[in-house]
Amino acid sequence: MNISTSNLTLGYGDFIVLKDINVTIPKNKVTILVGSNGCGKSTLLKTMARLLKPMSGKVVLGDMDIFQKPSKEIAKELAILTQSPDAPSDLTVFNLVKQGRYPYQSWFNQWSKEDENIVDYALEKTGLSDIRDKKLSELSGGQKQRVWIAMTLAQQTEIILLDEPTNHLDIKYKIEVLDLLKHLNQQENRTIVVVLHDINLACRYADHIIAIKDGKVYAEGDPKEIVTEKLINDVFDINAKIIECPLFKTPMCITYQNLTI
Ligand SMILES: Nc1ncnc2c1ncn2[C@@H]1O[C@H](COP(=O)(O)OP(=O)(O)OP(=O)(O)O)[C@@H](O)[C@H]1O
Ligand SMILES: [Mg+2]
Repeated sequence: MNISTSNLTLGYGDFIVLKDINVTIPKNKVTILVGSNGCGKSTLLKTMARLLKPMSGKVVLGDMDIFQKPSKEIAKELAILTQSPDAPSDLTVFNLVKQGRYPYQSWFNQWSKEDENIVDYALEKTGLSDIRDKKLSELSGGQKQRVWIAMTLAQQTEIILLDEPTNHLDIKYKIEVLDLLKHLNQQENRTIVVVLHDINLACRYADHIIAIKDGKVYAEGDPKEIVTEKLINDVFDINAKIIECPLFKTPMCITYQNLTI
């Protein structure tokens, strides 16, 4: 299913964050949103998941305005992991991940063996099987982050939106999570949209980058084509030398403030 925005203007009260945004998320690809703190990445992602109402314009999922679809229908097509999710801390890992199956339950469609298998799969993929019965209050920041990712996976949607999913993760899990997203994209044809601060990992994992600056899309496209020293300078206000990553052949940015130190 396709997701795109049409003349989308977003903000809070009178404060406009993003103006007139027209983006089409490439289907079955990994898209990564980049930009400085406060530029509007989370605002855009949340609006794409119907968690925020636009000031004007619309988000189109399939051929319908997302606000015209019932939320349970959307939850079968699109899952979102927000930047700072909250959950009751006495909930267990298993019980939180199980919430991902909520869109599939109804009075005639009770919890099934298939739901159980999908939750097991999500726990296994995120390395949580051993701590499935622990309470969230007993977990580290990174473990908690993986529980949220597992819940998103359990929702089994074609489109997955994740806001800084590698927050709190150590370097091994950071790569594991991004590899997992790439795997879901390549093996299961999921459309993935991720907000990521690490520009080098963004260049490695993205098929498509959307760089946001001053309330607008500054540039979008294949990282190999759009990530330049000028883009890094304009978007992040930092100098950069760009070389080719020796392993992945993607752009690698060496950032610096001042060469004279
Ligand atoms: N609930 C809110 N009410 C009012 N203003 C908000 C709200 N949430 C965000 N903003 C403002 O909107 C702008 C965009 O915020 P947003 O969270 O989308 O940025 P971001 O690009 O995700 O930043 P970060 O990289 O720090 O997560 C910021 O100026 C922020 O202060
Ligand atoms: Mg954010």
